[in-house]
Amino acid sequence: MDCGIFVSGMDKKIIITIDGWSSCGKSTLAKQLARELGYVYIDSGAMYRAITLYFLRNHIDWTKPELVKDALDHIHLEFHPNHKTGQSEIYLNEENVEYVIRDLVVAEKVSDVAAIGAVRSCAVAQQQKMGRRKGIVMDGRDIGTVVFPDAALKIFMTADKEIRVQRRFKELYEKNPNVTIEEVRHNLEMRDHIDSHREISPLRQADDALILDNSTISEKEQLSLALNWAAERMGKA
Ligand code: DC
Repeated sequence: MDCGIFVSGMDKKIIITIDGWSSCGKSTLAKQLARELGYVYIDSGAMYRAITLYFLRNHIDWTKPELVKDALDHIHLEFHPNHKTGQSEIYLNEENVEYVIRDLVVAEKVSDVAAIGAVRSCAVAQQQKMGRRKGIVMDGRDIGTVVFPDAALKIFMTADKEIRVQRRFKELYEKNPNVTIEEVRHNLEMRDHIDSHREISPLRQADDALILDNSTISEKEQLSLALNWAAERMGKA
């Protein structure tokens, strides 16, 4: 299985995990935190999305374990910084797929693919490697529970469902004005359900996670809250 990851720019610091429901702003907060702290930001969902993209493009029947195993052997994922934005972007077999993996076509299938044991083992092993040197903010669904159970700071994000639907709709509509709010709502409900009910590593709040409900607070306020938590945990690390 060649699911190797290369991440540049790591330092020796703490690990910060951000888990939570779809579209509650995990990546926005994770990127801002990483920028403020000089940490590397890793979007673990991008890995599941890139694997899904590969399966879709190559017509892989992911209900067949032998086909999944073979396909994973042909998938090589890397994160590289975009020098204009300063953010890590994901590459699938040397192609930058950071933007194409955000399409609804991928979003419709990614929760099914992310529920497959072999896919998760491959992704989790690479995520753990990336955290070896700490100085990382990683967001996802099982980062504080499975990937980094000993992380110094675990944040569990949530927000009112309709607010999440509106946020995701706005984001997708800017790229594709044909998208409807019903499609977005259906996709979000479906992903939340599959992600929290799957057998392997379902989405759940780690016992020691701090809850951040951002339904009514601004991006600035949530960043300041998270930075305070980080400062407190760094003091203890
Ligand atoms: O965060 P996101 O919406 O880009 O994630 C895409 C999908 O990948 C989401 O439906 C759940 C899955 N995922 C997961 O199972 N585990 C993670 N650590 C991250 C994402």
